[in-house]
Amino acid sequence: MMSEEEFKRILLFLKSRYGIDMSGKKVIMNGRLENYVRMSGFSNYQEYMDAVERDFTGEMEKTLVNLLTTNHTYFMREFEHFEYLRKEVLPWLKKKEAVNRDLCIWCGASSTGEEPYTVAMVLMEFFGLEHKSWDTKVLATDVSTEVLKHAVNGIYTKEQIEGLPEQWKRRFFRKLPDKEHYAVTDELKKEVIFRQFNLMNPFPFKRKMHVVFLRNVMIYFDDRTKRELLQKIYDVMEPGGYLFIGQTEAIDRSSTPLQMIKPSIFRKREGMK
Ligand SMILES: C[S@@+](CC[C@H](N)C(=O)[O-])C[C@H]1O[C@@H](n2cnc3c(N)ncnc32)[C@H](O)[C@@H]1O
Repeated sequence: MMSEEEFKRILLFLKSRYGIDMSGKKVIMNGRLENYVRMSGFSNYQEYMDAVERDFTGEMEKTLVNLLTTNHTYFMREFEHFEYLRKEVLPWLKKKEAVNRDLCIWCGASSTGEEPYTVAMVLMEFFGLEHKSWDTKVLATDVSTEVLKHAVNGIYTKEQIEGLPEQWKRRFFRKLPDKEHYAVTDELKKEVIFRQFNLMNPFPFKRKMHVVFLRNVMIYFDDRTKRELLQKIYDVMEPGGYLFIGQTEAIDRSSTPLQMIKPSIFRKREGMK
């Protein structure tokens, strides 16, 4: 088991660079790192962290982040959000962007891809035959390079896609020869752009977002980090744009000018800059 001092060192490293707060989670942290640190030949965590901090390629830091992030997700998670997207948000956007036909939708903690692929399937179904004349590509980012690899690969088990409607499975997935796995079709893959991005960094986006999914990630951040992140999100949102957060998460209403539509759905007022 790591010492208290070793725990604090990694805790601070993770919090200051990635916003992730693992206070009180020493056993979990140890469990996620122990094997890797031992197998890599380090005799203790201090030695390991010295190497991480010395490694200017950033590769060791990447691995640390891959090991310590919680990436649990699944298709159709918090289904009500996709219903709301289809029934309320997309009809509004279709009218609003009728001339440009270009939507900006961002999943800011996309993990292994189930969330952005679900969004993309909703979009393709909603626009139907008109989809060809719209650019509705979803930007999907995550800090973990490991989950992004999985997402780009787009291969899921039979169980993972089980909850999807039959017509989506038929249209957007191809059964692999082992019959246990399914691959996302190229048609769907083309609709999602995966990139590595740390939410703690300044936002590089040139355009404002119509819809932002930032679900089940702020639970790992402390209040100050959350407040600062929400301000950046607000600034990058298009007036009238929507923000979806996880259904078990909460936003301190006094810390954001966003209007609450439902407890996990927020909107930037129309007419705001
Ligand atoms: C529990 S998953 C949520 C996935 C999906 N949004 C959902 O609700 O099902 C949280 C994701 O947040 C990512 N994450 C954690 N800290 C991050 C940061 N600072 N910047 C970007 N992504 C981060 C993790 O790598 C992980 O994949």
